[in-house]
Amino acid sequence: MAHFENRITKLFGIRYPVVQAGMVWASGWKLASAVSNAGGLGLIGAGSMYPDTVREHIQKCKAATAKPFGVNVPLLYPDLDKHFQIIIEEKVPIVFTSAGNPKTWTQHLKAQGITVVHVVSSSKFARKAEEAGCDAVVAEGFEAGGHNGREETTTLVLVPAVTEAVKIPVLAAGGIATGRQMLAVMVLGAEGVQVGSRFVASEEASSHALFKKAILDAGEGDTALTLKALTPVRMLKNTFYNEVAEAERRGASPEELKRLLGRARAKAGMYEGNLDEGELEIGQVSALLHDVLPAEKIVEKMWTEFNEALRNPLNKV
Ligand SMILES: Cc1cc2nc3c(=O)[nH]c(=O)nc-3n(C[C@H](O)[C@H](O)[C@H](O)COP(=O)(O)O)c2cc1C
Repeated sequence: MAHFENRITKLFGIRYPVVQAGMVWASGWKLASAVSNAGGLGLIGAGSMYPDTVREHIQKCKAATAKPFGVNVPLLYPDLDKHFQIIIEEKVPIVFTSAGNPKTWTQHLKAQGITVVHVVSSSKFARKAEEAGCDAVVAEGFEAGGHNGREETTTLVLVPAVTEAVKIPVLAAGGIATGRQMLAVMVLGAEGVQVGSRFVASEEASSHALFKKAILDAGEGDTALTLKALTPVRMLKNTFYNEVAEAERRGASPEELKRLLGRARAKAGMYEGNLDEGELEIGQVSALLHDVLPAEKIVEKMWTEFNEALRNPLNKV
């Protein structure tokens, strides 16, 4: 397709309705700018960054691309006011928020001319995001890597539920790594996709090489949604996961689980490559990933596959 346009491409000013998810320890300026340069929307994952680091990544991203990019801010971290102050000062055009109440920040950001998108795991929260004034929502299903909803609604069910519940455009997330999967969720009413795990296995992701290799080695059933008594998170099953599962089996309290999780587990696993004791956030779709590719190639491949699938939707690949 020579030219594609819908509410999502217009909202963000992008060529393809493909958003690279903001991800702790994976999506810094290198990945975000590569995706934006390729015609998608790159997001800097501010969740693992101190405010000064966020500023540095925004400035480097601006130097690396003239295209629109955004910042993802999980609303459960400290220093939120500092993060948002920097985002406003640096004139970042797009913010994706997640994991908190969209009412708290949306109007403040929109008053500065920022486009705001919120990530949800149910149609109830999608309606709340719409009421809060968000420009779009991401419907993130159970398959997704990282933090996730308690409802455990899969992408196949969540996307039609959310598109029915709200009028604002919906991006689908969770389990999407190919153009054929992208077409499937767009048939269900999504107007674009937010892709996480596929971009962790990219050359530009700041994730540790050992983590990237572990993702390629992962098969079906190798991830699980765990730590449900705290904030549910999907990760690769490893020694740390087994410790959590064991603690949960004997009825560990949330405080005990918090102690077991400790600090910096995610950094140790995803950034420093501690495959046994680290927290390795990744989605079910890791079972379909067989190569680490440049981000540009990932965007191009998805778009080519999407178009092929659109021409021949029922042909088996
Ligand atoms: C390594 C990793 C880190 C993540 N960190 C965040 C984050 O900081 N903020 C957020 O909103 N979502 C985060 N997510 C979820 C993604 O934004 C995205 O919605 C999800 O990865 C989509 O599902 P997929 O992994 O199947 O593509 C993370 C996901 C992964 C795999």
